[in-house]
Amino acid sequence: MNIVLLGAPGAGKGTQAQKLVADYGVAHISTGDLLRAAVKAQSKLGKEAKGYMDAGQLVPDQLVIDLVKERLEEDDAKKGFILDGFPRNTDQAVALDGELEAMGVNLDAALLVDVASEVIISRLSSRRTCKDCGYTAPAGVDTCPRCGGEMYQRDDDKPETIARRLDTYKNQTEPLVEYYGGHGILKTVDGDRPVDEVYADVKTLLGL
Ligand code: AP5
Ligand code: ZN
Repeated sequence: MNIVLLGAPGAGKGTQAQKLVADYGVAHISTGDLLRAAVKAQSKLGKEAKGYMDAGQLVPDQLVIDLVKERLEEDDAKKGFILDGFPRNTDQAVALDGELEAMGVNLDAALLVDVASEVIISRLSSRRTCKDCGYTAPAGVDTCPRCGGEMYQRDDDKPETIARRLDTYKNQTEPLVEYYGGHGILKTVDGDRPVDEVYADVKTLLGL
């Protein structure tokens, strides 16, 4: 299974990816998680990325493309991967196609988790994220069910930044729906239902 997850911030990409990874053992490649780890480690990449992330803007393409290429070459990605949060614009999608072609790997599907903006704003405002492993859950969960780490509110899950992330999505990422539609691999799931109902449809759409 080699798939790309598309959808607005807070649509539930990470939530569905967590379930697919637990059930099918594929690699979860989340550029948001990779970038937040770089920020936490205060690496050169992290220092460069932080300002863009706090502003709800995309980190420059080349930084993210290099990060994904490196991650795709790791052993666990050979068993299959879920790209979560990448690509996020047409240039990134074209770079991904080139990289996968060079690796001799096909994308099986681009799965759009479709959710209206009003739902997104309330989900993101109440989201908590694990400091150690990136697991996400609604507010009220204080200890990570996966690793026992502390749950916190992401800096970019504040109302002003959420609005900017939604704008960035509409202007730069939404055109990818058409891009993958044109490649004949787009599948759409209604993400505004309970997590397990969405997941059941995801599995059907992916033929799992
Ligand atoms: P990133 O971390 O990718 O953030 P995002 O796309 O904004 O996505 P989220 O993680 O916010 O949402 P999600 O869809 O995974 O939702 P989740 O499952 O957590 O990116 C952050 C930043 O990094 C970007 O702004 C950018 O600066 C930078 N960046 C990342 N990738 C980049 C790239 N490729 N290029 C350039 N820059 C990049 O769910 C949200 C909440 O809702 C949770 O609390 C969850 O429990 C709950 N929930 C989920 N599903 C349901 C459901 N069905 N019903 C009810 N609640 C639900
Ligand atoms: Zn954790």
